[in-house]
Amino acid sequence: MKREHLLWLLTTNAGAAPLLQWGQGSNFHFAGLRFGMDGNFKISVFEDLHFGEPADVGGPIADLRTIGVMNTILDVEPPNLVVLNGDLITCENVATANVSDYIDQIVEPLKSRNIPWASTYGNHDMSKTCSTRVMAEREQAVGGKLAWTKMMVDGEYNEVGTSNYYVPIYASSGGGNPRLAMLLWFFDSKGGRAYQQTDPDGEDVPVADYVDQKVVDWFNLEKRAIAQQHPNQPIPSLAFVHIPIHATWTFQHGPNMNSATEPGINEDNIGHQGISCDALGKNCYWNKKDTPFMKSLAATEDLMAVFSGHDHGDDWCMKWASISGNEPPNGNSIHLCFGRHTGYGGYSDWTRGARQIVVHEDSLRGGEREVETWIRLEDGKISGHVVLNETYGMDRYPPVEKTTSAPISGEGKGQAV
Ligand SMILES: *[C@@H]1O[C@H](CO)[C@@H](O)[C@H](O)[C@H]1NC(C)=O
Ligand SMILES: *[C@@H]1O[C@H](CO)[C@@H](O)[C@H](O)[C@H]1NC(C)=O
Repeated sequence: MKREHLLWLLTTNAGAAPLLQWGQGSNFHFAGLRFGMDGNFKISVFEDLHFGEPADVGGPIADLRTIGVMNTILDVEPPNLVVLNGDLITCENVATANVSDYIDQIVEPLKSRNIPWASTYGNHDMSKTCSTRVMAEREQAVGGKLAWTKMMVDGEYNEVGTSNYYVPIYASSGGGNPRLAMLLWFFDSKGGRAYQQTDPDGEDVPVADYVDQKVVDWFNLEKRAIAQQHPNQPIPSLAFVHIPIHATWTFQHGPNMNSATEPGINEDNIGHQGISCDALGKNCYWNKKDTPFMKSLAATEDLMAVFSGHDHGDDWCMKWASISGNEPPNGNSIHLCFGRHTGYGGYSDWTRGARQIVVHEDSLRGGEREVETWIRLEDGKISGHVVLNETYGMDRYPPVEKTTSAPISGEGKGQAV
């Protein structure tokens, strides 16, 4: 990347404020956001930002470039909500006292544009020095009404994590008392390391990498309660979780994965929830601990798609219809998607970008529910534009073009900016 280009990225942050609406009427059962007056709800997913990497792999330069990516994309694609889908910070290297400062840097492009956001946390956010509960509190303290990150499931930090919650999205019409039109679910797949704990040998204590049974129990209870409050009115939903479920791995290694029907980058052997390894970190296998979560997702009527990050070299979507080698094999045709690696911290050299998701309010009311989604790249191009509808997985799309971002200068990266 040329110096002029870098400067351009760093200074492009003066975009128009997006149209924002959220419900504040006294009749709301629960605070939420609202479909825009154009009948759309648009989400930009920033994942794997990996702020706070050590200087020898980019450090502050990487963070500045990441802020440039966020600014560029928010100006081109002003959304109704940003989802920070895990690994906001590479927290292994960050001092406890410095975590707030990174959160402030990450949310600044959102605050300055008045864009609400909601986070899920990733395995790199949970470290010996960083608590995701502290991160959530900081988001709320600096974001006020813009920060939708919550903790709705109480329990041991190492079991339930932090970012388990939902955000209701209300209809654009209906004045001060609109109908509940959609739900966004957020789950904490944990992983990483226990906060301020060491084992008897003085080593960090690993945390399991799957959505806990207590969280699944809460999800099941909430779904039932919401269904009772809305008889004969199914509520369509989307879900976000940093580490993907095992069904994505079985699909990737099965006969149906195809660059024409699942367009996107497919360079990582998927790391998924529920992986156990031997003491040396070798001989890893699937321990099936994400099975209760997968069963609950598959049993969620009207769940349209689940979005994950974690695997920086994958950014396709699949239909979870019938996959042998997974439990359950049939995911009720839920779409499972990866996003694009947004941060300059973390591995992979593909052009940075962010998945955009648009839900058309009208499509939710008919039987033909569909979600439109694409990757917006930092160079302004679009990659992998697809429609997640009934025939997704059979529809054919043009192949995704491979482009890469210029490496960060510095030790271990070799090349000058
Ligand atoms: C914390 O931030 C301060 C100020 O930026 C910096 O000088 C210090 O090195 C950081 N500490 C660690 C351990 O990264
Ligand atoms: C799904 O979307 C694709 C792309 O727009 C389209 O070609 C296909 O006909 C749609 N399928 C249905 C059932 O509408």
